[in-house]
Amino acid sequence: MKGIVLAGGSGTRLHPATSVISKQILPVYNKPMIYYPLSVLMLSGIREIQIISTPQHIELFTSLLGDGSSLGITLDYAVQKEPKGIAEAFLVGSDHIGDDPCALILGDNIFHGPGLYALLRRSIARLDGCVLFGYPVKDPERYGVAEVDAEGRLTGLTEKPSAPRSGLAVTGLYFYDNEVVDIAKNIRPSPRGELEITDVNRVYLEQGRAHLVDLGRGFAWLDTGTHDSLLKASQYVQVLEERQGVWIAGLEEIAFRMGFIDADACHRLGLGLSHTDYGTYLMEIAGRAAP
Ligand code: G1P
Repeated sequence: MKGIVLAGGSGTRLHPATSVISKQILPVYNKPMIYYPLSVLMLSGIREIQIISTPQHIELFTSLLGDGSSLGITLDYAVQKEPKGIAEAFLVGSDHIGDDPCALILGDNIFHGPGLYALLRRSIARLDGCVLFGYPVKDPERYGVAEVDAEGRLTGLTEKPSAPRSGLAVTGLYFYDNEVVDIAKNIRPSPRGELEITDVNRVYLEQGRAHLVDLGRGFAWLDTGTHDSLLKASQYVQVLEERQGVWIAGLEEIAFRMGFIDADACHRLGLGLSHTDYGTYLMEIAGRAAP
């Protein structure tokens, strides 16, 4: 399976913090925001990932993350010239996707919770059509909204409805079979001229091939759309990391634990960051696992 992180948009709601840099580069506590969605793809076992951003910002991501080889993954980069909707990622990324299934994650979505690894792997193993992830929120009108029947089966999808028929938001993580490229090519742009991801998902729903996994309570899907929510996301990460002495979305650690790199490589990455707590932490992890 291939992966795409879509890190576009102008982030106007966060100006002036994002006047000259991309929103997805802003720190969420101690690491750039894009680490969080990237960590989700890596935990899904995906090693070929394309990062799509704007012409102004793409170089920030290239210099931050390089070709991914130090993490045992392959990263490449593509440009979305104008903000023409999330589903345009499948047109921009069609060469990258090739004949494979594809996971898309939005560059500002932060997921954290128990059992995430197993949930992701299970969802990919059972992929038939598309898998969407639902999350109960207080303000569903801000999101794509999923309707489900008594058995939890997906029955409807609406983008930012003024009168939502459920409280279940559709998060910005999506798993698709290879047909997604053709489907995205054939949907019509919205009145705003955008290729809406919800329209793609609705095609799968009409075919009876859209499946919803409810992340449920106790799980964190954090918002980063406002200054306040961004600060709260940082606080969430800080509280957990400090309390448990672990790192959330530490890409080097994930690469090691997923077997993408060995203990020596993990130790070397730690050494490169030895002036930080994270570097020490990486060396400890590598040391512990060393023979
Ligand atoms: C997009 C999608 C929406 C989804 C949300 C998740 O909205 O259109 O369906 O619920 O991402 O983050 P946007 O954030 O682009 O307004």
